[in-house]
Order: sequence, then structure tokens, then C-alpha cells
Amino acid sequence: MRYSFSGPLVGRRRLLLAGGAATAAALSPGLVWSAGAAGPVHRLKPGPGQVKLVGDGYPETAVWAYDGLVPGPEIRVRQGDRLRIEVTNALAEETTVHWHGMRVPNGMDGVPHMPRPPIGPGETFTYEFDALDAGTFWYHPHIRSHEQVERGLYGALIVEEREPIQVDRDVTWVLDDWRLEADASISGDFGNFHDLSHNGRLGNTPSINGRLPDAFPAQAGERIRLRLINAANARIFGLRFQDHQPRIIAIDGHPVEPHEPEDGQVVLAPAMRIDLILDMIGSPGDRATVVDEFYPRLAYRLVDLAYGPERLRDQPMDTPIALPANPVPEPDLAAAVRHEVVLGGGMMGSMTGAMLDGKPLDIRTMMRQGMAWAINGTASSGHVMEPILTLEQGRSCVIAMANDTAWHHPMHLHGHTFRVLSRNGKPTRFREWQDTVLLSPKERVEIAFVADNPGDWMFHCHILEHQSAGMMSTIRVA
Ligand code: C2O
Ligand code: CU
Repeated sequence: MRYSFSGPLVGRRRLLLAGGAATAAALSPGLVWSAGAAGPVHRLKPGPGQVKLVGDGYPETAVWAYDGLVPGPEIRVRQGDRLRIEVTNALAEETTVHWHGMRVPNGMDGVPHMPRPPIGPGETFTYEFDALDAGTFWYHPHIRSHEQVERGLYGALIVEEREPIQVDRDVTWVLDDWRLEADASISGDFGNFHDLSHNGRLGNTPSINGRLPDAFPAQAGERIRLRLINAANARIFGLRFQDHQPRIIAIDGHPVEPHEPEDGQVVLAPAMRIDLILDMIGSPGDRATVVDEFYPRLAYRLVDLAYGPERLRDQPMDTPIALPANPVPEPDLAAAVRHEVVLGGGMMGSMTGAMLDGKPLDIRTMMRQGMAWAINGTASSGHVMEPILTLEQGRSCVIAMANDTAWHHPMHLHGHTFRVLSRNGKPTRFREWQDTVLLSPKERVEIAFVADNPGDWMFHCHILEHQSAGMMSTIRVA
């Protein structure tokens, strides 16, 4: 179950936060934020905790957690509800909460100084926004994320459809990947240069819902809606469900035409979500193995599906599994403005240098400062920066991204949901709605969306070590 990792331990590196001036852009009215039904106030308290991550025979693991739980409490609301989440920071450092994938007003997005300052130790801030879209989302800090998320700060945010599809069980698996020492403590080598400049902090202990998993109990004939969330800093999961044929019904929360995954592998890059319909087609007493084989040489058994002695029904359910569409505006491709984005840097790359804090630097000097990546030739050292693009509010846009590196990058845009139009010039089959899109080494991907949400929005790689080492930018909608 455990496998080893290699890499020099270069020691800690602090994410350089650009201090001072907040760019509080004047916001013009855009999306209509209807005041939804007032639900209960949710409370979250990020702080230190202890969890039984590895299980019996091992000490507990010291973590940072929401309410002492990893994952944090699952927040579940219905589409159209108004969320109020009061966050009290019990950490010894600043934090924020970002509602990954939710289309929220700019000031509720949980990005430090953009435009709101982070939540200091002991301080409380209440986030408030409407759940416009149904689907599987998640929350996590957006400051020193490569350490705060890695230590256990993340949780699921589920927005139920007004009329959900029929299933026997609705189950969430928050996947993570920990780098643990032999005593089950978290390895303290956050942000070491090897992780920053290669494929991020891969761990040695995968977990489901904060536990090293063994068996997932199921029943013959059962239909499960399995909501997968990848909360790992860097690990891309590629799951196979042995002879089961799961069907994908949503990606990043948004409905997609139900289909079986390509080659039977459910690929989930960091921050991505996939909703599956999993029909338990085995017999009572069966055991089937879920294998993660994204990195073929490191394939391992993630968990067993363990059938109980009973059978729930003889024939699989045949009720519809397609989800109703979310109210995301359709981009007008004929009228769209087109922009290009190039991802550069990393080991074995061709980038020779980039702009950092307004100065051109060669790659060696950059790397000495813990920077390894750039977007359109600029490496970012913090959240406050000049936008790489300014989009007219309400305008449809196509962004053509080119990955000019030797590594994978899951690119995430805040405040919007985009269609993935093409990969390497070939139209995608489902024109999926996503908020995080994985680019393979050297791949080109086109996305399209309506820039309807005003503000400065993060556009960054969700391998959190890449994000800290420069692969972050801002797109302005004004
Ligand atoms: Cu999940 Cu910018 O974040
Ligand atoms: Cu990346």
C-alpha cells in the first residue's frame, strides 16, 4: 500500500506574498445574485487537530483541519439556497476559504487581498453567496495552499439538484495523498525545490475521506452516485473499477452526457471532481478492487468494493441518470474574442527566463528564488498582480492554452465555468463544462466562456507546488 518517494529535501520555502496595496477594482453590476432562501449559518473553524489517518498500530497524525475533521464537515445545500459560512481562524497564521468551482461574487472568493484581506489568527469572517449551480464542489484555503491544504484543510461542498436523480446512495469520496514519515506524521518538507520544479508533492499514502482505505461496503444491485473530489496537492488519480462500468454524469460539478470513461480509467487531476453512477453488478460476497494506475509504474490498489451478503435487487435500476443543466451562459463562439496563454518552465523545459516582480530574470536566478514556472512569460510571487488578460464584461472568450513544458498542469479559472472545446486541435466529444482542465505535457487546449463575473480572477495551476513556484496569474473582467 505504501510506496516510497525520492527527492532532495531542500527545506521549507515560504510563499512570497506581495504585501500592501489591495487592488480593489471598482465592480460594475454583472451577474444577478438573487437572494436565495436563507439557510442555516454553517460554521467552520480551521485549526490544529489530530486524526487517525493510517489506522490501528500507528499513532494519530497531527493535522490542520476544519473543526478537527479531515475532510472538514461536508456542507450540503440545495441549488438556489443562500450559503452563510462563518469561518473562525484557530490557526497561528492567516487563512482564507476558497469555494472551488462555485461562481461567487469576487469578494467572497477567498483569495487574499483580492479584494479582501485574509482572516488573521483569532479573526472571524462570514462568507455569503448563492448556490447558483448544482454539483460537487469543495473548499480549501487560498493562502500558502501548498502547506495549508497538504496539512488537511479541505472539505466537500455539495449542492443538490432541486430534483435529484434516483439512486440508492449518494456517496462522497474526497481523495488525498499524504507524504508521511514512518510514525504517520506529515513530512515537513513543504515546497522543497524538487517538488516545485517537477510534478509537485506526490505522497506515499493515499486516503479516502481522511483514512487510508481498506474496504468500501456495498450491496449487490445497488446504484451509487459516487462523487469523487481530488484534494491532493499534486497526485493525478486514474481509477479503474475492475469489471464495473461506472458512467460519468458530471465533471467539476457540471452535467455531462452520461458516458463510460475513455479506456475505462476515471482521470481526476488535482481539484477536479467527477460524479459517477456506479451500479454494483457483482454478487453477494464478491470483492472488486479499485486501482489507481495514472502513473503506470506506481499503480496500486486504492480500495476494495466489498459486497455484503444481501442482494438489494435483481435487475439494475433503469431510471434516467442524466442531470439537468446548470444556468451557465453559453459562449457565442462566432463573436468570441480570442486569447493565447502559454505555460512555461519546470525541469527539462525550454524556458530561459521570465518576468518576476516586474524584472526579467534568467531561469537559474529564478530557481534560486524558488520560482520555476511562468504563464505568458510572467512568474507570479503572490496573489496581487497585473492581469495577463482583461476581458470585457459579458463578452464571450476563447482561451487557447499551450503547455510548453514537460509536465502535467491542471489549470483552474476562478469565478467562471468554461467549456473545453478542443485538445490538440481536435474537438472534444462532450464539450464539457469544467473549472479545472488538465493539460498533458505539450498539449494544447481551447476553452470558452462568457466573462460575466466582474473582478480580478485567479487563473493558475492546481498542482499547489507549481502555483507557489510561479504558475499563477490573474484575468480581469471589467
Ligand atoms: Cu481550488 Cu485557486 O483554487
Ligand atoms: Cu502545474
